[in-house]
Amino acid sequence: MEVVIVQDAKAGGELIARGIAELLRRKPDALLGVATGSTPLPVYEALASEVRAGAVDVSRARVAQLDEYVGLPAGHPESYRSVVLREVVEPLGLSPDAFMGPDGGADDVRAACAAYDAALAAAGGVDLQLLGIGTDGHIGFNEPCSSLASRTRIKTLTEQTRVDNARFFEGDIEQVPHHVITQGIGTILEARHLVLLAIGDGKADAVATSVEGPVAAVCPASALQLHPHATVVVDEAAASKLK
Ligand code: F6R
Repeated sequence: MEVVIVQDAKAGGELIARGIAELLRRKPDALLGVATGSTPLPVYEALASEVRAGAVDVSRARVAQLDEYVGLPAGHPESYRSVVLREVVEPLGLSPDAFMGPDGGADDVRAACAAYDAALAAAGGVDLQLLGIGTDGHIGFNEPCSSLASRTRIKTLTEQTRVDNARFFEGDIEQVPHHVITQGIGTILEARHLVLLAIGDGKADAVATSVEGPVAAVCPASALQLHPHATVVVDEAAASKLK
């Protein structure tokens, strides 16, 4: 695992966007695994400006969602499908056909989860998976004590994560769904390159436990230590509890 300390979120975004651009030059139809939340936004902004500057061709790039809320009405602005369309697919000028995600509105959620794992494999697997990290060490929505071998499945959000995410729902925790579909930790580990971005002192404990603690289900992001190509990009504040 490599840890890269950057000055701020913008520098982290630019660094990762350059890495994605490099990947797309090598492999124009790369499958990019995209996270949602606040942290990856500078990456998407930096990548969109590389595209506008003509520095990278994304015309054949594909994107795959990491997770999705269960039970939000179709087209809800905070469904992760809507978020990825708004923040990644549209700014990059990708075709909506180049975009895949789990079906959070499926009647048979278990079948939808298995179908998503199968679709990822059929697409050749994720080339680069961008990850954020929860204050409790979650990746995707694999909350603490998720199996390190888990596959895409339905999970119940912890109270802490619902509190953290209420800001996307007018600050009202009642509007935050209780359930999500998330790629499992085993699924995430199949991506060829994992890139985790963490910004701010609120992530410092989770970063230190993930990078320097034991590999343990109690801290899902510690599973990155098992991956042969994992990069953790942090600002000084998020790095402040590293030894
Ligand atoms: C969202 C996701 C989550 C977030 C994490 C951090 O797709 O996978 O693991 O990355 O909750 O969220 P932010 O970046 O908003 O602090």
